[in-house]
Amino acid sequence: MPMALPTMFAGVSDAMAEVERKFDQELRSDVAGVNTLVRHVARFRGKMLRPALLLLAGRACGELTEAHTTLGTVVEMVHMATLVHDDVLDAAELRRRGATINHLRGNEAAVLLGDYLISHSYHLCSELNDPWASRMIAATTNAVCEGELLQLENRGNLDLSEAVYLQIIERKTASLIATSAMLGARYAGASEAQQRAMHEFGRSIGIAFQVQDDVLDLVGDVSQVGKSLGSDVEQGKMTLPLIHFLRTAPAEHRNLLRSLLKGDEPDRVEKVRNLITPSGSIGFARQAAQGYVDQAIDCLNVIPESADRDALASAARFVTERAM
Ligand code: IPE
Ligand code: IPE
Ligand code: MG
Ligand code: MG
Repeated sequence: MPMALPTMFAGVSDAMAEVERKFDQELRSDVAGVNTLVRHVARFRGKMLRPALLLLAGRACGELTEAHTTLGTVVEMVHMATLVHDDVLDAAELRRRGATINHLRGNEAAVLLGDYLISHSYHLCSELNDPWASRMIAATTNAVCEGELLQLENRGNLDLSEAVYLQIIERKTASLIATSAMLGARYAGASEAQQRAMHEFGRSIGIAFQVQDDVLDLVGDVSQVGKSLGSDVEQGKMTLPLIHFLRTAPAEHRNLLRSLLKGDEPDRVEKVRNLITPSGSIGFARQAAQGYVDQAIDCLNVIPESADRDALASAARFVTERAM
């Protein structure tokens, strides 16, 4: 059984409540229609993994400051913006057990709300008066966009290599998680070596996180995950289990997968799932994710032992144990 998130994040629960408060305060508008959209985003909170990692990294390396909860809010807002836009790209209908903005209000509203969120994240970050942090957040968002663009460029590319897949997920997902952990450490006065280790910790769990997400997209249970699944196959996104299958399965099975991925049969997601499940390809991807989790946990050796360091290790393990 994976440790429950509230248990893992217990040490930073007050700071997390402050992040939620800053999040809602920053997004408030005097335009009623904007608040309606923002309320929807605030009502369906996610796991809040990025702010939690930022705060835990801060406590594990020193003391939390006002800047930590501001930066926690900033990274969650960047994340939220990318999800609102990602759901447009994926034509997804369900997110965090609620309807997506694009499903509820259309793509135009979702594009604009995503812009509103990203611009507020910079607005809030500028409060810190720290050009270094602002540049870091901007550079990270650039990397996320590059990852999504690289993924878009490779839609339907059945020959996508594992190396390019890793580049995509490193940018679109791991970069923000790495920045979150590193900023937490930096603002707690961590040494350069500790900041680098926390960046690497976040990068490794970020890669594991996306590999696990891609496994769940194929074989997860929608009632547990709480978001639209199967969209990677529907949108022609090649993920690690599929890449491995096309490299290792018998020719007949490989050809079947290729024709399912190229075709537009309405039940192709289910057929792909049935083809992949008995193969070793899901296990291969899970094992790869586990390897990144182990690497992440090794990075924690440069910070002193504490309950917060243990919570970071639990958070790393959660990434591959989760079904949500
Ligand atoms: C979803 O991230 C997008 C990916 C990077 C796979 P999360 O699973 O952290 O989403 P929320 O914030 O908990 O909804
Ligand atoms: C992660 O990719 C998206 C971002 C990092 C923006 P996915 O497309 O797999 O995310 P989900 O599954 O929709 O949450
Ligand atoms: Mg998506
Ligand atoms: Mg996904």
